[in-house]
Amino acid sequence: MELAEREKEFQEKIDKGQKIEAKEWMPENYRKQLIRMISQHAHSEIVGMLPEGNWITRAPSLRRKAVLLAKVQDEAGHGLYLYSAAETLGIDREKMIEQLITGKAKYSSIFNYPTLTWADIGAIGWLVDGAAIVNQTMLARGSYGPYSRAMVRICKEESFHNRQGYEIIYELANGTPEQKKMAQDSLNRWWGPSMQMLGPSDADSKNSAETMKWKIKVESNDTVRQRFIDRTVPQAIAAGLTIPDPDLKFNEETQHWEIGDIDWEEFYQVIKGYGPCNHKRMKARQDAEAEGAWVREAAAAHAEKKRNKKAHQAA
Ligand code: 3HC
Repeated sequence: MELAEREKEFQEKIDKGQKIEAKEWMPENYRKQLIRMISQHAHSEIVGMLPEGNWITRAPSLRRKAVLLAKVQDEAGHGLYLYSAAETLGIDREKMIEQLITGKAKYSSIFNYPTLTWADIGAIGWLVDGAAIVNQTMLARGSYGPYSRAMVRICKEESFHNRQGYEIIYELANGTPEQKKMAQDSLNRWWGPSMQMLGPSDADSKNSAETMKWKIKVESNDTVRQRFIDRTVPQAIAAGLTIPDPDLKFNEETQHWEIGDIDWEEFYQVIKGYGPCNHKRMKARQDAEAEGAWVREAAAAHAEKKRNKKAHQAA
């Protein structure tokens, strides 16, 4: 079949809301966009464990330690799940890891900020996982079967992440004056980067034309961001905290919260590698890759030995 005809037939499937499965024909750029997004999503899950892992040994109670441990373990599982989803498109795990540790691939900008206090662990669960849930429930309606199905399972666990984060922030905000100050300071530092994490504005997004034409993303970055803002501002108010944006106002007509300008200069600096923790995060992943080499080599040697034994028995 001519390429043009194949592309037309593919677009008709997408427009009808059909799911595309791994073995089906797909335009090369559809595959490329998915590999780009899913692998970077997986990288984000793995790198996202670092700022939170920093507080597992310092959690203020055994309960908080157990909950944080469970969350960080969930994120590892999300990363492995998403690397497997990316592998269905023909890229292998080693290649994706190499792209991450050489800086060729991105991971979410939000994880290039430090976790300075325990309140930051609350802010990450409340804001970062909160933004991720809004984005991922949208991606769960996407056209690529393996990715959209992975989102369903991941969102269930993100809801727990988000609730535990908001519980931390709410308790601190209603605790001693020092605890309330810690919660407000954390909101002040994490609000801006959580606005940026959902991607550039629709006008500046260079991938959205393709990713939305093929329903990899079924809604735009700005639409998802607005939904996150509308959901989150009332939660801050309920906790007695102030959103650090003097231009924040509620529009009675549209029933949406309107925010001031997002600092896109900061965003592009961070995704170019100049954020507060980019170097630290990359070094941690590079060191982990080097330190884990012996495990991979031992597992490969064991698998080879089993294959040889089976082949010998069959001969
Ligand atoms: N961090 C790093 N890079 C980003 C970014 C961010 N927050 N937002 C956009 N970019 C990059 C894009 O990757 C793209 O660069 P590339 O072409 O080299 O890949 C460039 O900026 C232009 O951005 P676009 O808006 O055109 O890119 P997208 O259409 O891909 O939109 C996105 C960005 C909304 C992040 C989208 O890629 C997406 O939804 N990805 C899947 C979800 C995901 O990756 N989430 C990570 C959040 S962390 C997380 O979920 C962990 C959880 O446990 C909290």
